[in-house]
Amino acid sequence: MDIEHVRSRFIKHFDGTTGAVYASPGRINLIGEHTDYNGGFVFPGAIDKGMIAEIKPNGTKTVKAYSIDLKDYVEFGLNEEDAPRASWARYIFGVCREMIKRGVDVQGFNTAFAGDVPLGAGMSSSAALESTYAYALNDLFGDNKIDKFELAKVGQATEHNYCGVNCGIMDQFASVFGQKGKLIRLDCRSLEYQYYPFEPVGYRLVLVDSVVKHELASSAYNKRRQSCEAVVAAIQVRHPHVEFLRDCTMEMLNEVKAEVSEEDYMRAEYVIEEIQRVLDVCDALEKGDYETVGQKMYETHQGMSKLYEVSCEELDFLNDIAFDCGVTGSRVMGGGFGGCTINLVKEELYSTFIEKAKEEFKKKFGRSPKVYDVVISDGARRLE
Ligand code: GLA
Repeated sequence: MDIEHVRSRFIKHFDGTTGAVYASPGRINLIGEHTDYNGGFVFPGAIDKGMIAEIKPNGTKTVKAYSIDLKDYVEFGLNEEDAPRASWARYIFGVCREMIKRGVDVQGFNTAFAGDVPLGAGMSSSAALESTYAYALNDLFGDNKIDKFELAKVGQATEHNYCGVNCGIMDQFASVFGQKGKLIRLDCRSLEYQYYPFEPVGYRLVLVDSVVKHELASSAYNKRRQSCEAVVAAIQVRHPHVEFLRDCTMEMLNEVKAEVSEEDYMRAEYVIEEIQRVLDVCDALEKGDYETVGQKMYETHQGMSKLYEVSCEELDFLNDIAFDCGVTGSRVMGGGFGGCTINLVKEELYSTFIEKAKEEFKKKFGRSPKVYDVVISDGARRLE
């Protein structure tokens, strides 16, 4: 991420003066997918790719925003009816609105931003954008009175209320709370979290991006969430204390098997198993047992592909190649419906695996996947 790049565009685009500069990262997730909105565990970390924004209050009630990457300029007011049409600007608008709802006296500002999180790759470019502005507006207009959790919730509420995605808290949490070299296990029910140093000696974490983007990803995502809620509602009849799938066992699920659709049953089965896998991976990590970590990642892939049905041909193919090459762990990462696989691979296998993945993928799909090495980095912050 290049601060000079953003600064030079900001100066050129506005009145020649400079503002404050903020940054927030995208994220990876070692394991625990589609568990956040089910009150389960996730295990993400922030990465060294994200968004940078320069911002300066402009003494008006209008936000003047420039997307450097898209070369697109939008102006909007701060009232509910002022929502801009451009989807990228809706993220900024949503954050402004959510901060105002939380009592921050947001005023007009000039801003330019750019990022290096690949869009639609499952690395949470949108959370990076939301966290950047939530952090910045809190600093510039809110005396930093909103706490970090609430900043993450501002991003999540932006997705819900202005972008049509009923996401969980994982992405925004990781983007705000990230720490260099550490993964974070978050309990999405109690919101308790714990940092885990993650420097697996002899292994590398690498993302292989299928560059597939599913057009209907957000509606398919929301549909998965509805399935989970439908199963919880059925289980609640017998077990009123149950609030999330997190509170359910396979026995409880089987009690309602005849009452829920086959599809909803599969979705819930995946989630119940996935929540347990996060705990198993944490235990294995504490023992330095990367073989078990990797095996659980493969199990997650199977579950996401066959039960939750959020994988795709390209991602299954990449997963098979990883397995054939002897990669320790591999799975589709993030919401799914395209994006990348996350791979835990032994140093000595790294080049063979990457070469083979590129070559075979190209042979089958006629284009190369993209490869990103993961560096676990810090969360939202002010740069200048
Ligand atoms: C997306 C959502 C997250 C989470 C993941 C799946 O990234 O934004 O809240 O549900 O999908 O684990």
